[in-house]
Amino acid sequence: MDLIQRPRRLRQNPSIREMVRETHLVPAQLIYPFFVCEGRGVFKRSKHLPDLINCSVDQIKKLLSPAEKLGIKAVVLFGVVQKKDSRASGAFNKNGPVANAIREIRSHFPNLQVATDIALDPYTDHGHDGLFKNAEVLNDETVEALCKMSLLHAECGAQIVSPSDMMDGRIGAIRGALDAHDFKNTMILSYTAKYASCLYEPFRETLDIKLKGDKKSYQMDPANRREALKELMLDVDEGADIVMVKPALWYLDIIADFKVHSPVPIAAYHVSGEGAMLELGAKAGIFDYDRALLESLLSIKRAGADLVVTYQALAAAKLLR
Ligand code: PBG
Repeated sequence: MDLIQRPRRLRQNPSIREMVRETHLVPAQLIYPFFVCEGRGVFKRSKHLPDLINCSVDQIKKLLSPAEKLGIKAVVLFGVVQKKDSRASGAFNKNGPVANAIREIRSHFPNLQVATDIALDPYTDHGHDGLFKNAEVLNDETVEALCKMSLLHAECGAQIVSPSDMMDGRIGAIRGALDAHDFKNTMILSYTAKYASCLYEPFRETLDIKLKGDKKSYQMDPANRREALKELMLDVDEGADIVMVKPALWYLDIIADFKVHSPVPIAAYHVSGEGAMLELGAKAGIFDYDRALLESLLSIKRAGADLVVTYQALAAAKLLR
């Protein structure tokens, strides 16, 4: 055959393949989320996703000591509390698990960036991210609560706050509150396009959330693509330092759109249901776990994410060593 282009020339050996590789997975761009609970000596794994850890503050040193060595630079903290109420009181507890965990990590791991989830759902008795009046989410009152929560975390030493609630105007309000209290360098990682997805169940199970109803009046409709750009514009205007798409693998088109339009770094959240599917698929013999994990994370980066939040960050970083 008389072919001018033979694409296989660039695939003929490992050296040339490595030279022309377009996307790279590196541990520094993986963010490791985990849950902190009350008590001592607690270290639990989610039954569908063993890499999703819920531990007490005294176990954090053990959990994170390999993380730093593996090249992980950032963690995201979620709080797990027993006592929940309609006002999410637990979110503002100066001695709650998240507040204590931030101080613990900052004192033992000076090079880690500590991000904290900013949302009320671990603390409300109905499992929603917002405060309610009758059946209605109170947007502006919820935003005030999120500002208070962000300030508490910044005071404890969190370098990044990460609002995951999808209330309107929260990025601007949190930026204003942080600046007014001289936390000008505290970063905001915004869940910019967060969809009302079925993929959050292992997460909710860990938090013991029995959600009443659904989150469709604040999280985005999985059918919408253009609307994510509106959220992107608003978040950037309001001061988001990093924008995030969530979930990741079923939303690669949204990540690709952000790649074109976002002036700030892009993160994607490889959520609990996505991680659990990898576990189950590998257990069923459908694919090799290690290869499936790396291919999933690579694909999220190829679509345009700079950073990937994943419970499997440590496992992936080990494979990348
Ligand atoms: C809620 C929140 C959720 C997740 C992160 N923050 C669940 C939800 O919106 O109900 C899900 C993460 C995951 O499934 O891994 N503030």
